[in-house]
Amino acid sequence: MKRRRFIKISALSSLYLSTGCSTEKNTDTSSLLTAAASSTANANQLFIPPLLDPAPDQDGVKQFDLTIQASTHSFFEDFETETYGINGSYLGPTLRLELGDKVSINYTNQLNEVTTMHGHGMHVPANMDGGPHQEIEVGTAWSAQYTVKQKACTNWYHPHKMGQTAEQVYKGLAGMIILEDAETLFHPLPKTYGVDDIPLILQDRFFDENGQFDYSPTHMEVMRGYKGDTFIANGQIEPIFTATTTLLRIRLLNASNAGVYNLSFTDNHPFTQIAGDNSFLERPVEMTSLLLTPGERAEIIVDLSTFIGETITLTEITENKAFLHIQVAESLSNNTSIPSELTILNRWSESDAVQTRHFVLSGQQGQLYINNKQMDMQRIDERLTLNQIELWEIENQMVMDHNFHIHASHFLVLSRNGNPAEVQENIKGYKDTVHIPPSETVRIIVKMSDYADPDGKYMFHCHFLEHEDAGMMGQFIVEET
Ligand code: C2O
Ligand code: CU
Ligand code: CU
Repeated sequence: MKRRRFIKISALSSLYLSTGCSTEKNTDTSSLLTAAASSTANANQLFIPPLLDPAPDQDGVKQFDLTIQASTHSFFEDFETETYGINGSYLGPTLRLELGDKVSINYTNQLNEVTTMHGHGMHVPANMDGGPHQEIEVGTAWSAQYTVKQKACTNWYHPHKMGQTAEQVYKGLAGMIILEDAETLFHPLPKTYGVDDIPLILQDRFFDENGQFDYSPTHMEVMRGYKGDTFIANGQIEPIFTATTTLLRIRLLNASNAGVYNLSFTDNHPFTQIAGDNSFLERPVEMTSLLLTPGERAEIIVDLSTFIGETITLTEITENKAFLHIQVAESLSNNTSIPSELTILNRWSESDAVQTRHFVLSGQQGQLYINNKQMDMQRIDERLTLNQIELWEIENQMVMDHNFHIHASHFLVLSRNGNPAEVQENIKGYKDTVHIPPSETVRIIVKMSDYADPDGKYMFHCHFLEHEDAGMMGQFIVEET
């Protein structure tokens, strides 16, 4: 199927040629060009999703109210795209939770379809996980209620409706969750939200000739993943952030359906990764590029002192498309630093593992499998025992990329293709999603340390959302000893 593309123009006037312009809106290119020419850089300042203030509580419970709704959003000048959003037109506000907080995250579904809302990376009971079993019917509300019980990290929330996850995320349903603890508050790291600590939600989208999302992947696109030719950050095309500090901390979230992003700054300017999915790294890691697959997060810090008064760009280098331009102010405040030790992690020992499980990723013709099975909500695939250390080996038998995500708890990556030395330094913290490149086998160490429940179903799956929806997902429960 050949799709027609929207003629797009951003404030930076990147113009992509359309393969066909049959609609009225589209043929009027000159007015789009004029609109872009008259716009200033300010029009495209990076949107920082607001921090959601929890409403006053009765019993010390922080109440967060989120409304899931249909809306329209301006990705382009003078142009509205039909979207979904949470308390807004596209994406959702940022939740900031602290270790020990009792929270109630209250989701109201104002869509015309059933959804769910999962806390990706959250260490919570299965019935609070927001997976496919916690459906939120049209016009009703559902609350995720729990006590925050994990290390500081950057997590996120997104729908997990059986078979519909990819489309609902694509339309705009996702938001960031920032977890803090004594360590994050103690470190001299940048931590002023929206100033020197910014969320950056990375996605790619395909706009049809009417400037709309047309989510209808073919079998081929299910296999390859539904990838768009327009890269967006916080719902904007090539936004500009004005930096006023020497060190800028960026919380990167790959919230795309299937984009594998290889990120790099102008001139390969070095940066420091301080955190991965579920924790700080023990020590900061110096890097010049960062690979992030769908669902993964990375907190990085970039030193802007050599770019004073200039612009530095964050680019996806495989497609060579810009995600974000950072306009560096003429004078920068300089009162943060990167400690050489960030945290201490509990590294379970391989010799304490009592069981090894194998997971084979395979597929054909738009059908995808884990151990030759497609997801079935009625079937429990794996039964784990509380507090038992296990090794999981995930083997990608295909010639395409996958990754592997486990709900409920973090894991550590032990080896790639049997070789511990192949594990990249920047994925040595607590992870919940790991890249499994073509024909690779990745070995991880896993432990479920809470929330045993014979009826509580958690998911494991490939986080390429088309793959997940096409069957590459399974269920586990955690049982008492
Ligand atoms: Cu981010 Cu099972 O999901
Ligand atoms: Cu998850
Ligand atoms: Cu996959």
